[in-house]
Formats: sequence, C-alpha cells, structure tokens
Amino acid sequence: MMRVGFIGTGEITAAMVRGLAGRGHQIMVSERNAQVAAQLAAEVDEVSIAANVDVVAGSDVVFVCLMADVARQILPDLPFRAEQAVISVMVDVSHDALQKLCAPATDIAMTIPLSAISTGGSMLPVYPASAALTALFGDSDHVFEVASEAALNAHFAGSALSAPLIALMQTGAHWLGNQTGDQKAAEDYVAGVFAGFLRQMATSGADFDVLLKGLATEDGLNASLKAHVQNAGAHDALLSGLEALKPRLGL
Ligand SMILES: NC(=O)c1ccc[n+]([C@@H]2O[C@H](COP(=O)([O-])OP(=O)(O)OC[C@H]3O[C@@H](n4cnc5c(N)ncnc54)[C@H](OP(=O)(O)O)[C@@H]3O)[C@@H](O)[C@H]2O)c1
Repeated sequence: MMRVGFIGTGEITAAMVRGLAGRGHQIMVSERNAQVAAQLAAEVDEVSIAANVDVVAGSDVVFVCLMADVARQILPDLPFRAEQAVISVMVDVSHDALQKLCAPATDIAMTIPLSAISTGGSMLPVYPASAALTALFGDSDHVFEVASEAALNAHFAGSALSAPLIALMQTGAHWLGNQTGDQKAAEDYVAGVFAGFLRQMATSGADFDVLLKGLATEDGLNASLKAHVQNAGAHDALLSGLEALKPRLGL
C-alpha cells in the first residue's frame, strides 16, 4: 500500500485516480477543483480530500498535476521531504525547475499520462526512471523510461497526436452516421475498426507499414481516400503542426 497524493484535481488527476481505484492505495487529492474532488471521493472509496499542504505532508508519492504557472507559484510553499517521490505530469516545467520547486525531494520524475490511464493499458513514458510510477502503474499500464528529458518532451508532442487523430475519426464517423441515420452505431463502427487494427498490432507484432500494405489494394477505397487526404495536405499539416510545437518543448 502506498500513500498517493495529487496536487491539482482536474482532468488528468481524475483519470489517474480512477486507474488506481481498488488497488489498496490510500489516495489524497487536493481541494481544487472542489467539484472534481467531491466526485472522486464519492466514486472511489480510497480517496480523501485535503489541502495542498496536507496532501504533500501525508503522501509517499506526490503527483503534480497543475498548470505550469500555478505550479511555479504554489510548489515552493509545500512541505516536500527528501525521501518523497514526486512525479510531474506537466508540460512546460523542466526537471531542473522541478528540483528547485520541490526541494528537498530529489526522486523527481516526469511522465505523460493520458485519459486512457483510467481504464489501463495506456502508455507512460517516464524520465528519469521512477520506481514509484512503476510500482503504481507498471502492472496496469506500459511504463517505459526514455533516454533524456528532450526525448520525454518529444513524447509530449507525440501525445498531442491524440486529439487531431480522434477528431479525424469523429469526422469520418459523423459522415458515416449521416449516410446511415445512426450516429451512435457509426461511432461504434469506426472505433471498433481501429480497435481491431490496434489489437492486430499488439498481438501479431504488425507495424503501421504492414497495416497500410494490407489496405493498399489498387483502386481500392482505402487507397483512393488515403491519396485524396494526402494530396489535400493533411500529412504536411500534421508534420508542420508537430514542428511548430518544438520551440515550446525546447526541441
Ligand atoms: N489532460 C490531459 O490529458 C493531460 C495529459 C498529460 C499531461 N497533462 C498535464 O497535466 C496538467 C493538468 O492538466 P489537466 O488537463 O488536468 O488540467 P485541469 O483539468 O485544468 O487541472 C488543473 C487543476 O489544477 C487546479 N488548481 C488550480 N490552482 C490550484 C491551486 N492553487 N492548488 C491546487 N490546485 C489548483 C485546478 O482547479 P480549478 O479548476 O479550480 O482552477 C484544476 O483542477 C497540465 O500541466 C497538463 O500539461 C494533462
């Protein structure tokens, strides 16, 4: 059993707490956001709500889940301890800055959870390695150490593929629903198609190239739509968008 604290009770804390539910840990979340904290306490038996100071004082591992400007403002006044593990999920706060903000703690790591952590099976890149993160999520999710802080920041950009690709699937599903008259069934179909491909990758070791080769029938509908989307500039837009994130991420 670990005492796990969360500072900043918003979207990503809610997902992580739901992912930890029922695993015997003592979970403390900070009072803000009050509505999210109350919802988590109502939903998950192990959750209690406390002031930021008490969350840090009463935890073996503290997840910092704040916006960067708030973190810079409030972390220096919190009672971190030398033997405590601190795990930041924040973009825009470097490891150097965290060491200063969370002193005297030195076991400080950075990771990138996404909302799928609530149900497990999500990807958790981490830098540097964190025994606490592995102990908490190593059984349920894929925790893997990346080689440098720059590599972690590159993964932050990679994680930002999520919204545009999900939005593309949503657009396609909406189009399908307009043809069939059943939006829900259309969304289930599109999600199921991709879940199938992802399962295929996970179980057979197929990579993206293998999937694309299987969808490359000459004059096939997939090949035709792929070429159209490519010619319309979608791939270039995605790449230029990723490039545009680099200055913010120090890349
Ligand atoms: N959402 C994601 O999928 C995701 C993924 C990876 C990383 N992250 C990172 O996670 C961090 C949080 O993102 P989020 O999406 O969870 O944002 P969020 O939902 O806005 O959560 C931030 C939380 O911090 C709270 N807060 C504000 N001031 C506070 C204070 N003085 N003391 C304690 N809590 C305070 C906010 O409360 P109020 O609502 O009352 O202001 C809010 O509940 C960001 O740095 C982001 O880069 C998010």
